[in-house]
Amino acid sequence: MRERERRMRYLGREVEVEGGVRLVMESTLSARDRVGVQDFLLLENYSSEAAFIENLRRRYRENLIYTYIGSVLVSVNPYRELEIYSKQHMERYRGVNFYEISPHIYALADNSYRAVRTERKDQCILISGESGAGKTEASKKILQYYTTMCPTRDNTHSIRERLLQSTPVLEAFGNAKTLRNDNSSRFGKYMDVQFDYKGAPIGGHILNYLLEKSRVVHQNHGERNFHIFYQLLESGDSALLLRLGLEKNIPQQYHYLVKGCCPRVSSISDKNSWKIISKAFTVIGFNEDEVEELLKVVASVLHLGNTQFGEDEYGMTHLTTETPVKYLSELLGVKGSSLSVALTHKKIVAKGEEMIGPLSLEQALSGRDALAKAIYGRTFTWLVQKINQSLAFQDEVYYTSKCSSVIGLLDIYGFEVFQHNSFEQFCINYCNEKLQQLFIELTLKSEQEEYEAEGIGWETVEYFNNKIICDLVEEKFKGIIAILDEECLRPGDASDITFLEKLEDRLGGHAHFVTHKLANGKTRKAVGREEFRLLHYAGEVNYNVNGFLDKNNDLLYRNLKEVMCQSRNRIVKQCFSTDELVDQRRPETVRQTNAHTHTRTHTHTHTFTLSPLLCGQAATQFKLSLAKLMEILMSKEPSYIRCIKPNDAKQPGKFEEVLVRHQVKYLGLMENLRVRRAGFAYRRSFEAFLQRYKPLCPDTWPNWQGELYDGVSILVQHLNYKPEEYKLGRSKIFIRFPKTLFLTEDALEMKKPTISIILQKNWRGYRERAKYHRIRHAVIVIQSWWRGVKGRRRAKRRRQAADTIRSLIKGFILRQEPRCPDNEYFLDHVRFSFLMTIKRNLPKSVLDRTWPRPPPSLTEASAYLHRLCIRNLVNDYCRKIQPEWKNQLEQKVVASGIFKGQKDNYPQSVPRLFVGTRLENEEINLKVRQTLGSDNRVKYGVAVTKYDRHGYRPRPRQLLLMGSGIILVQESKIKQRIDYSSLLGISVSSFSDGFFVLHVPTTDSKQKGDLVLQCDHVIEAVTKLAIVADKIHNVNISQDSIKFAIARGKEGVIDFTYGAELRVVKTKNGHLTVTAPQNVSSI
Ligand SMILES: Nc1ncnc2c1ncn2[C@@H]1O[C@H](COP(=O)(O)OP(=O)(O)O)[C@@H](O)[C@H]1O
Ligand SMILES: [Mg+2]
Repeated sequence: MRERERRMRYLGREVEVEGGVRLVMESTLSARDRVGVQDFLLLENYSSEAAFIENLRRRYRENLIYTYIGSVLVSVNPYRELEIYSKQHMERYRGVNFYEISPHIYALADNSYRAVRTERKDQCILISGESGAGKTEASKKILQYYTTMCPTRDNTHSIRERLLQSTPVLEAFGNAKTLRNDNSSRFGKYMDVQFDYKGAPIGGHILNYLLEKSRVVHQNHGERNFHIFYQLLESGDSALLLRLGLEKNIPQQYHYLVKGCCPRVSSISDKNSWKIISKAFTVIGFNEDEVEELLKVVASVLHLGNTQFGEDEYGMTHLTTETPVKYLSELLGVKGSSLSVALTHKKIVAKGEEMIGPLSLEQALSGRDALAKAIYGRTFTWLVQKINQSLAFQDEVYYTSKCSSVIGLLDIYGFEVFQHNSFEQFCINYCNEKLQQLFIELTLKSEQEEYEAEGIGWETVEYFNNKIICDLVEEKFKGIIAILDEECLRPGDASDITFLEKLEDRLGGHAHFVTHKLANGKTRKAVGREEFRLLHYAGEVNYNVNGFLDKNNDLLYRNLKEVMCQSRNRIVKQCFSTDELVDQRRPETVRQTNAHTHTRTHTHTHTFTLSPLLCGQAATQFKLSLAKLMEILMSKEPSYIRCIKPNDAKQPGKFEEVLVRHQVKYLGLMENLRVRRAGFAYRRSFEAFLQRYKPLCPDTWPNWQGELYDGVSILVQHLNYKPEEYKLGRSKIFIRFPKTLFLTEDALEMKKPTISIILQKNWRGYRERAKYHRIRHAVIVIQSWWRGVKGRRRAKRRRQAADTIRSLIKGFILRQEPRCPDNEYFLDHVRFSFLMTIKRNLPKSVLDRTWPRPPPSLTEASAYLHRLCIRNLVNDYCRKIQPEWKNQLEQKVVASGIFKGQKDNYPQSVPRLFVGTRLENEEINLKVRQTLGSDNRVKYGVAVTKYDRHGYRPRPRQLLLMGSGIILVQESKIKQRIDYSSLLGISVSSFSDGFFVLHVPTTDSKQKGDLVLQCDHVIEAVTKLAIVADKIHNVNISQDSIKFAIARGKEGVIDFTYGAELRVVKTKNGHLTVTAPQNVSSI
């Protein structure tokens, strides 16, 4: 499993060696890139200088200018544009480990950047090498890398531009052509680039060191003044030049520009540079007025150079040229006359009294030059501060030192040896000594000390420690600078020569100090009488003491200062403050040595106060600012670029071995290599190492509980470190090869997704569990509340039910009592439930006689309601009844009134409807109808049987009820007619027979006596007749027999009896006997 893991970790990059998985670097190198070795650590014969130089040469021939010594980058100036600085190249180096691809300055830049981002530790990149070796170019490449590759915050876009554009402006004012370099930086520059926590550049700050001001007034042969003068004259537009009083394109006219006799150089395009800086001024935030004022200062320096003096016969100095002063007064905004006086006279303060005295010609010239230097020098410092304002990080709220880190870039003048070396070279070379000292401190010395402290077996490497030289220059009271200061401040006739003598006096015998007088033999010839020689770590340099005192004093006559203080040019005004005039004891001192303190947080709080630090001479100030610089650099993690110059002729492809060997030697590259080879590339405290790589081993993950030493041992064993690859010290692990570390880093990178998954998993698990517990708790709370509510409700219901039952029982017991609180519920309930029962069981029809049984207390109400209900139903029924049906019912009511309970066959007749008539019109003979006439309508007709009065013979007849009387019809004859008014009554039996008798008055002659008729529809026919004839009350129902009148007072009888069937017979007694069944269904 572990085997598989390791294989996977390295993807395709693995080979099997001796059973274990050993890794090889992914090779992205082309064959050309593999020329020689890319890292001197890999050099077979690492102690041979020849092999070292050969490797450099072979690579240089292939234009491979970069080579590593461990983490130090060695760069050889190609003197030609190489195609290795494109965006694609930058991309290639982004996020890639140092050793994975061919050496490049971008790899180093990226390495520092990543350290800033991941470890949030301030970095610095120290670029060293002699003049013309490519330091400035290197720093520009690094800046370009950062401004191109780093992410941007919304508003950091302009910061990038400003960071980039600050360089051409500073180069125009601070660089010049020298014999060594056509674009030599004549000032030291330390630049901080500030990054926010996301790695976006958000600000910057520049510290400048000792501008070589003497160049303003004098240049060696073949050298030029600062670029800006030439750029202005060549490319400034005519109107501008006119305003400045300058003549286009004729640098020869200006005395300050002709000393080196080479105003034009083919390799320098002043025109182009002018365009670039014009744009840069805008980007940095100069407005037009500020640019114009700045150029006025530049022009005024040129006019100052052209200011000439003469001596009259009395030895008095006077101005021989008027025009320059005129322009000067205009450009600087000072009074011409005051300036003229100040240029030719000096003000002496003696015993509190001011006196004006004339200057000698020589004094006047040096006063003029001092003024030019002061103006230019201070303006340069003003410029740096102005740029710093523009680079300062603006967002104060956002800014805290915690959330931003810086990368410092140090590009300071390289070691310089000229034919004639002066104060400036002394300072520059002293500075290089200090940097070398720092390099030794941080790499060689501290490294070896650390091995010792950690108890790592170690073979000491000899190296030259240049501390002795640093001390020689800077030691308090005893060093060269101290002696120089002493000589400057000494009253009396101190001169450069007395200074030299003092040096000889005090330092004679020092191994690194020689003068003409002290030397002997061969050396004596090489050292001039006015020179002293220092044996620098980088070689011997003879310094001519001429000008040392003056330059260290940096004298500027007081009255010239006063004039400058009154200037209306805003820049000059800011550069010369009246505060300076207060201190009268001491002449002004160099301010380019950067008096202001450097801290990161100060990047946005600069002001333009150039109030001078009046606490030392130029050299001392320089010493102090260097000490400060060392402090800054010590507080950061350094990376080194060592620049080598392959030839003095600035020629591409030319590799001068002697020159290179010299540089390799004095840069200490061999010692560096030896220490690195003997030592370990990487070290880390056990704790930090374990903390970072613990995920790579199951035993140390997630936490190691035991001794740190054991934890680290287990971890490296798990990582398969070979014994020769590492050593464990007392508190640190030492890893010999960077590769080992990078592979471990790679493994960590690969492991990161897994770790993040574990973290995510655990976090999500925790989050979900927490959520679950929250919800569960909430559910339980809700449940318990709800159950409570439910329980209380149930209890309440039960209580209410019990109360109800109790009151019902009580009520039941007291139900007979009058209504009182104890029984009212029961009574109400009874009433309610009875009413509800009624409601549910209401009769559906009038005939429905059902009605719920009322409780005793509601009997009366129930009866009332029943009545009401029935009435209602009847009402309903009546409303819905049709006229025919009403008629029918009326007849039925009449029938009921007559026959109900009286006649046996009445009940059977009830359900049978009465019809309008039993005889249709057609059934009545036409003749009869004609006789009756059309208006005499038949109201009812029925077939009847008429029994004769005597023989009781039955004869069929039709009985017709007309409007006024009864008509009996036989076929076509009307047999008998009886008016209703003459009808006396109607008799029927109580039996179920169909007989009925119509009684008529016997007195009526027209009548032959009562009519005995029999009809199948006796009830219907009698009812109709009774209604029509209005004889309802004249219907007589007889029990046994009916007597009827026969004509002439005689009487007939019909007897009725019960029998099996209906029979009609004439009995012997002359009666007609009718037997009728008791329950006859037919009538
Ligand atoms: N990487 C480089 N590629 C091309 N030319 C270079 C490179 N480095 C230096 N040079 C050339 O060398 C000259 C001097 O380099 P510069 O950086 O000014 O030197 P230094 O600052 O060390 O005095 C440059 O003007 C340029 O022509
Ligand atoms: Mg430079």
